[in-house]
Amino acid sequence: MTDNRITTVRLGADGPEVGVQGLGCMGMSWAYGPADAGESRAALERALALGVTLYDTADAYGAGENETFLSPFFKAHRDEVVIATKFGISSPPEEPYKRIIRNDPPYIRQCVEASLRRLEVDVIDLYYMHRRDVNVPIEETVAAMAELVREGKVRHLGLSEVTAAELRAAQAVHPIAAVQSEWSLFSRDIEAHVVPAAKELGVALVPYSPLGRGFLTGSFSNADTDLTDQDFRRTMPRFTGENASANAALLEPVRTVAGAHGVSPAQIALAWVRQQAAVRGLPVVPIPGTTKRSRVEENTAATRIVLSESELALLEPIASKVAGDRYPDMTFASAGRE
Ligand SMILES: NC(=O)c1ccc[n+]([C@@H]2O[C@H](COP(=O)([O-])OP(=O)(O)OC[C@H]3O[C@@H](n4cnc5c(N)ncnc54)[C@H](OP(=O)(O)O)[C@@H]3O)[C@@H](O)[C@H]2O)c1
Repeated sequence: MTDNRITTVRLGADGPEVGVQGLGCMGMSWAYGPADAGESRAALERALALGVTLYDTADAYGAGENETFLSPFFKAHRDEVVIATKFGISSPPEEPYKRIIRNDPPYIRQCVEASLRRLEVDVIDLYYMHRRDVNVPIEETVAAMAELVREGKVRHLGLSEVTAAELRAAQAVHPIAAVQSEWSLFSRDIEAHVVPAAKELGVALVPYSPLGRGFLTGSFSNADTDLTDQDFRRTMPRFTGENASANAALLEPVRTVAGAHGVSPAQIALAWVRQQAAVRGLPVVPIPGTTKRSRVEENTAATRIVLSESELALLEPIASKVAGDRYPDMTFASAGRE
């Protein structure tokens, strides 16, 4: 099956070479309701066979559970995988979706040691600040992260949901390989400031939730009625109530383009994000999340789809019509602080 393998790209000027699509592993342990552990493990193996090398987790995903779950896979394939994890968000045990954000150096040190223990590896390939704690200067946070690079605990640095100004300040302290932020047909706010800054600085973009947390695939159309009580998407303004119905109607052009290519809407959503690399001139490595082998195959196959100018034009107006914010509190995203 080597002909199905995806191609590779360098993550930032000095970052690691990775498959052009990564795998988001969050849903294997957290956020989107229960997942089948055996099928998730099979999905990880299938992804690797198809050339996916960047695996995305965070200490916040199930309070460490996701890192622990991934550890056997990482250890079995240590030299083939690029392990990306994050610090910066925690939740009280009784409120799993409440967020406490911390970026202070002693906290970072405590987090990296805990992640290394759970992952059972000596070094993290890409260590991200998950969210910005505005009470700590970004220079101080990145200096503490750089210290971890010097000590050999971490290979490369990344930042999630930073503003363009925060990225510039960080890059002045230590090279940043990647910015991970939400980017999809539904969520394009980072195009205003963050994407141009990343391009200028030689930093790669790692779009998270490239399938709009599944909404762009048409697999659910209203979180209130279609998803379980434990599903995080029930807290998100654009997936509930009247917003959800209005947003579901926006998917028609995605279905039209999918029909023309004989592929799924999910594949068109992924092809669109990937094509932003060519449109905007910087490395872009989306990390769609799935817990299923068949979807790993479907999603990686989307790296071979090229959308025409007229198809891009048809998809262009969607994001500006989306009802509801990405998060209940938009300062949690870079656009809320730009
Ligand atoms: N930095 C951050 O703040 C942040 C925030 C959110 C996420 N992330 C990272 O980004 C990764 C991806 O984001 P995400 O999981 O939120 O959203 P996503 O990738 O946009 O969508 C994931 C959802 O789509 C479904 N799905 C995947 N492929 C599909 C297909 N081909 N057809 C139909 N449904 C499909 C998945 O369900 P199945 O499992 O059933 O396939 C899952 O419910 C996460 O795993 C996490 O690692 C980072």
